[in-house]
Amino acid sequence: MNNPIMPASGTFGSGQEYSEFIDLNRLGAIVTKGVSINPWEGNPSPRIMETSSGMINAIGLQNPGVDIFIKRDIPFLKKFETRIIVNVCGNSVSDYIKVVERLSEQAVDMLEINISCPNVEHGGIAFGQEPKMVEHITKEVKKTTHLPISMKLTPNVTDITEIAKAAEYGGADALSLINTITGMRIDIKKKTFSVANKTGGLSGAAIKPIALRMVYQVCKAVHIPVIGMGGVTTTEDALEFIMAGATGIAVGTANFRNPYVMLEIIDGLQKYMEENNIEDLQEIRGIVD
Ligand SMILES: Cc1cc2nc3c(=O)[nH]c(=O)nc-3n(C[C@H](O)[C@H](O)[C@H](O)COP(=O)(O)O)c2cc1C
Repeated sequence: MNNPIMPASGTFGSGQEYSEFIDLNRLGAIVTKGVSINPWEGNPSPRIMETSSGMINAIGLQNPGVDIFIKRDIPFLKKFETRIIVNVCGNSVSDYIKVVERLSEQAVDMLEINISCPNVEHGGIAFGQEPKMVEHITKEVKKTTHLPISMKLTPNVTDITEIAKAAEYGGADALSLINTITGMRIDIKKKTFSVANKTGGLSGAAIKPIALRMVYQVCKAVHIPVIGMGGVTTTEDALEFIMAGATGIAVGTANFRNPYVMLEIIDGLQKYMEENNIEDLQEIRGIVD
């Protein structure tokens, strides 16, 4: 990658709409929205609600399925110099495997495996909430593909380092964290939930201190690179994640307010490095130890 900045999955499509505003070649990578084996309709509306310094979403991983994704999005993504990371979702191990098989035949640089999805064969608990399941699914995906894989961890667990270690043990090449934190809002006028799904995933600036703490803990617990995310909105935020130990930085909710934000952060990091005589971000990575 030319730089560590990339969009967080689900906040950028495959970049088509943003390409009208920014030069996608400047991004370190493009991370796509989650792709499943069959089309997913997503949850009923309303699916998004603002919160103090953030938002709750319950989109439900709506996507057209891997066949349409390969036909529609891969040719678009291949037009750019930037790396292609495809986010994968599923409701069973075999669903994940089928998507991974299909994508492994494509010109993709890495797969990001979203294990926040409910495991329908095991009572709906998210794959990413049980260390044994995380190790299992990581091993199965790793067996299926020659591509590097990053396991995308959910923060909705008691000890994220146990989950991170299970993914590393299973053979993950990298870890991406954090996904959204389960939250809720109530519409007091309508006296009902603000999103139809009742609960949703909290993201944006509100979650940054939690994300930073988890990225720091995970970076200390494993030996593989971490893509840190959760509320990154400014160059200073990105620097905090790097100093906590992150190798890559993903920007999600901030893109909705400012489509130029990732380019501003890339320029900001460059300026910071020049002003502080830093040649390689490695010099400050994990510096807080
Ligand atoms: C609208 C929306 C859709 C998302 N879709 C996905 C997805 O498809 N796959 C995934 O792994 N994460 C998804 N996420 C989680 C983000 O990639 C990211 O982990 C989270 O939002 C924290 O980063 P942020 O605070 O910068 O948004 C989504 C987040 C939002 C807000």
